[in-house]
Amino acid sequence: METNQSVIERIQRLREEIRRHNHAYYVLARPVISDLVFDRMMEELVRLEKAHPEYLTPDSPTQQVGGEVTKEFKQVDHRYPMLSLGNTYSPEELQDFDSRVRKTIGQEVEYVCELKFDGIAIGLTYVNGQLAYAVTRGDGTRGDDITANVKTIRSIPLRLFGGNFPEEFEIRGEVILTRKQFELINADREEAGEMPFANPRNAAAGSMKLLDSAEVARRKLDCYLYYLPGEDIPFQTHYESLAAARKWGFKVSEHLVKCSSLEEVMEFINDWDKGRETLPYDIDGVVIKVNSLQQQQQLGFTAKSPRWAIAYKYKAKQAATLLRSVSFQVGRTGIVTPVANLEPVELAGTIVKRASLHNADIMEELDLHHDDVVLVEKGGEIIPKIVGIDLNARKPDSRPVAFIRYCPDCGTALIRTSGEAGWFCPNDTGCPPQIKGRLEHYISRKAMNIESLGEGRIGMLYDHHLINNPADLYDLTGEQLLSIEKDYGDRVVRFREKSVEKILQGIQSSLSVPFERVLFALGIRYVGETVAKKTARHFLTIDNIMNAGMEELTRAEEIGEKIAVSIIAFFSKPENREMIERLRNKGIIMQIQEPQYKSGILQGKSFVVSGVFTRFSREEIKNLIEAHGGKNLSSVSSRTDYLLAGENMGPEKRKKAGELKIPVISEQTFLDMIGISGSEG
Ligand code: IVH
Repeated sequence: METNQSVIERIQRLREEIRRHNHAYYVLARPVISDLVFDRMMEELVRLEKAHPEYLTPDSPTQQVGGEVTKEFKQVDHRYPMLSLGNTYSPEELQDFDSRVRKTIGQEVEYVCELKFDGIAIGLTYVNGQLAYAVTRGDGTRGDDITANVKTIRSIPLRLFGGNFPEEFEIRGEVILTRKQFELINADREEAGEMPFANPRNAAAGSMKLLDSAEVARRKLDCYLYYLPGEDIPFQTHYESLAAARKWGFKVSEHLVKCSSLEEVMEFINDWDKGRETLPYDIDGVVIKVNSLQQQQQLGFTAKSPRWAIAYKYKAKQAATLLRSVSFQVGRTGIVTPVANLEPVELAGTIVKRASLHNADIMEELDLHHDDVVLVEKGGEIIPKIVGIDLNARKPDSRPVAFIRYCPDCGTALIRTSGEAGWFCPNDTGCPPQIKGRLEHYISRKAMNIESLGEGRIGMLYDHHLINNPADLYDLTGEQLLSIEKDYGDRVVRFREKSVEKILQGIQSSLSVPFERVLFALGIRYVGETVAKKTARHFLTIDNIMNAGMEELTRAEEIGEKIAVSIIAFFSKPENREMIERLRNKGIIMQIQEPQYKSGILQGKSFVVSGVFTRFSREEIKNLIEAHGGKNLSSVSSRTDYLLAGENMGPEKRKKAGELKIPVISEQTFLDMIGISGSEG
């Protein structure tokens, strides 16, 4: 018989052992036991936790195989904005950076050179040594909570080693895929008839966005950590902070060098430009950081990036290959983009088969001929571009590639507005890729965010004549969706009831999307996210925008003549006005809403907010407190009225509240206090 005490001890013992071996295998790449022995330990732990679910903890290594399925990612505010880095491409530009730094500091400066990982930036927050949440960069101020996915990355510790880490801190790094793992994933996808990823970075990004964490676990992502943000980091230098992070169990690159001169920095850069192919993963440059944290603070940040760091980007790699053909793609706004189909060629670790030619002007400038040997280059962008032609290899009788004059999808004669580089198909109401493209845009994440309808599903619904414009989505019925069949030749596929339910639910919940995003979702040419936001806030209602003339429109911030013309053209079409009316009748929000929750109900009450919340982000909770007349305090004291506790709150605060007999309340209790209940918000 296993006694409870012996079970607990055994579980703890196994977890510690597994953690150590995980670290040895995934972080240090120096396994000490065989896979078989490791698997046995894991199996035993899984068995014990199954038999005694009361002892299961979120930081158990068994939680790293995934399984949690997320409906959609929660948005989380970054405590420190997630900035980017300034770029340099030449020793001269680097020299300028160094001069600027020295000018501010006024003395010797030591740098740390690191590899610039080409992956997806991530911020991990640890509370009392446990991974509390993981957030993507998002727009720099708030990102997606992808904790469930990140937990499956074996090189990321769920629980830290040692004990001298701050009670709560964030560490940032890059989620990457090795080239080998990338090839394996793509091979699987091609076999399953899915589109392969363009490069390891895209594959990593795609994987992080998956809602099923078990699938993420199968992608075998990796993560290097390189930065501890904040002013209260208990170290003197960046180098020390990374050394400590390494001791706590994080994977920190071993290619980290302190340099006291620009010559040494250049040496590191040149060595890795030559050596980067030997790394198992992609890098796109080197990052140079001022080592002293005190000097970093002295230098500070611009709105976009730190003044104490810079990226040196490697020149893009080029390859020569044969042009097989040129195809033309029509986008949602009717713009026709020429795409070169190439003889597959290896370029910086990936196989390139296509390259964008951008537009007619660029195509003409290149003077592209059939059967040309072209030079392709991969820069920062996903799709490689053609940068030149090997004229020596051109056959004497070859003809230039002509831009098409008729839409490849609907046959309409293309038009070109003066001053624009591109041709476009004016048949916006009858050209399939335009209609589908607009619907896809409407449901996309930054627009109405109807995730239950993906690109493929929109295509299916359109092909079955069920939807033609966004308003049609709100007329869809369960019966219609259930009746759709997709014939794959050997089998016929239908939606399951569950998916139908989800689709309808997703459509329904878009009724709460704020007006700024609705305006963006309409897909008016040149009205991107920012313009939509500013326009909505300026005009407040859709009617004001619809009825505004040129002069009124251009008076608004962000709206220039080109945008104004496009807005007027959009609303002058009767079918668009009709669609707006239908959307309005369905309940889509067509005006800016006043902040809904405001009162004086918390007047005179002070709160300390700590931990992670489910319905709102910590920032939103704090805003709610203030909107209702309450005050936010940063630490628990006798002046605190309530400790508002989320998940993973530090035990210190709870202890202090206990000592001072301050009530600890949950998110729900708080929301009840201010009268927010149910699923609104
Ligand atoms: S430090 C405050 N170090 O490059 C900026 N970033 O182009 C802190 N990156 O957003 C970033 N390797 O996603 C830093 N060794 C490294 C990096 C690195 C890759 C990424 C990071 C950053 C982007 C800027």
